[in-house]
Amino acid sequence: MKSLLRIEKIAVEYATEGGRLRALDGATLTVAAGETVGIVGESGSGKSTLALTIGRVLPAYARRVAGDILFDEQSVFAHSDSELRAFRRDELGFIFQNPVSALDPTMRVKYQLAHILDLKSSDPAIMSHLERVGLKDVERVANRFPHELSGGMAQRVVIALAIARGPRLLIADEPTSSLDSTIRDQILELLFSLPAQTGATLLLFTHDLRSVAKYCDRVAVMYGGDVIENGLAEAVFSRPLHPYADALLKAAPGAEAIGGKIEAIPGRPPILRERSERCPFAPRCTWVVDLCRKQRPASEIIAGRLVSCHRAEERATAAPAQLVKGANNAS
Ligand SMILES: Nc1ncnc2c1ncn2[C@@H]1O[C@H](COP(=O)(O)OP(=O)(O)O)[C@@H](O)[C@H]1O
Ligand SMILES: [Mg+2]
Repeated sequence: MKSLLRIEKIAVEYATEGGRLRALDGATLTVAAGETVGIVGESGSGKSTLALTIGRVLPAYARRVAGDILFDEQSVFAHSDSELRAFRRDELGFIFQNPVSALDPTMRVKYQLAHILDLKSSDPAIMSHLERVGLKDVERVANRFPHELSGGMAQRVVIALAIARGPRLLIADEPTSSLDSTIRDQILELLFSLPAQTGATLLLFTHDLRSVAKYCDRVAVMYGGDVIENGLAEAVFSRPLHPYADALLKAAPGAEAIGGKIEAIPGRPPILRERSERCPFAPRCTWVVDLCRKQRPASEIIAGRLVSCHRAEERATAAPAQLVKGANNAS
């Protein structure tokens, strides 16, 4: 499969009152056309910053300091202003956490669709765009203002707008976190029906591992602004090689259902000011050895996935019983 998106060692910093904050620290990820990829990690791991960087929609006080992002082999940072506008409008579809604030509060739904599609608001095609996202009674929905819609309906409208121009890449950042649990699955079902329906590639940024396990071809695990493990969802979920990926799975609600118990990850994720020169997970890792504090592990292909851990090779060949805590003494 051809790669649609190549994120190469991207580093992004925010200028904050407390100084520079390095939200992305060398994240690398390649996505093939038509794939569905779940990007997971604790809050603060850099998911939203990465989502925004792909479309270059970061705030003005954020800056790319290293690396590149190629869409269709073209750097998104090489676009002129007009190329960037066309890229965002025609190639990308964004779906964010809060659908009501993603919509224009002053415009009825039909005008927002008409605007994106360059159509008259009376054009019947507008109704078909609303039907496509599973909305009923579309005439009524079309005449409503965003605040007159329920959260689930508003998110369907956002999705209709995001796919209206047939984008090749859909970027969904926590698209169901603000919705009632009863409609979360419906929205995910809709989102994940789109790649088959439209040929689009879908990136789901989320802390919800269960939805990634259920719907995504591939998973990328982020930590400290980097992608520390990335492979087929089935392989990573059944045997995570990076100790952080392992810990994240054990901390996820639902872990108790598959024979374990929920174990919170002690400590806090790092707040980086500059490039991390050691493994960012070292202070919290039960597999840590001296090398981890001295040298940042390079990303290597081990057991069919990309993983950045000095002990991944060892973990790949260890017997299951050796993969539990207390593995430190192996050094
Ligand atoms: N607009 C912003 N201004 C300053 N710091 C930010 C901003 N957005 C995110 N950050 C910081 O960048 C890091 C990564 O955050 P974010 O990309 O939001 O991660 P996630 O989506 O995984 O929670 C965090 O330390 C966060 O506090
Ligand atoms: Mg986020």
